Amino acid sequence: MKKIIIAADHGAVVLKNQIISFLKTKNCETRDMGVNNEDPADYPDIALKACREFNAGGYEFGILLCGTGIGMSLAANKVRGIRCAVVHDLFTAEMAKAHNNANFIAFGGRVNYSVAVTDMIDRFMNTTFSGDRHERRVARIAEIEKKEC
Ligand code: RB5
Repeated sequence: MKKIIIAADHGAVVLKNQIISFLKTKNCETRDMGVNNEDPADYPDIALKACREFNAGGYEFGILLCGTGIGMSLAANKVRGIRCAVVHDLFTAEMAKAHNNANFIAFGGRVNYSVAVTDMIDRFMNTTFSGDRHERRVARIAEIEKKEC
């Protein structure tokens, strides 16, 4: 069974619950790292907690949610080993896996998407990493992380 980690700030609690219900229908085990109410919460702290848990191992990928997906993604990408992609349609959902081998995807609870977030997640989950030249490029990202962070 695929194990997926999910976390949100106050800007995406409703979306988080929708995604958790969707993942249940896909027979995935979801680790919900909060938050579960709309009291203002600082997304960098939530992203860090979720990324550390992901790096502890055993997860297929992670989903981070805030008002836009941007803040969560910026914070997550500071954590060693994390490649978090802000996804906004089916094409970017597919490319995030096929070309970037993202291990986190981020969405916004306040964004009006033209396609359902659950469809984007489904596309991401059903795409495989293309490898080859993309393997080299993703490895370069890791090299930058090693040198610069
Ligand atoms: C919180 O108001 C909002 O700034 C946050 O959810 C997120 O959109 C940041 O990128």
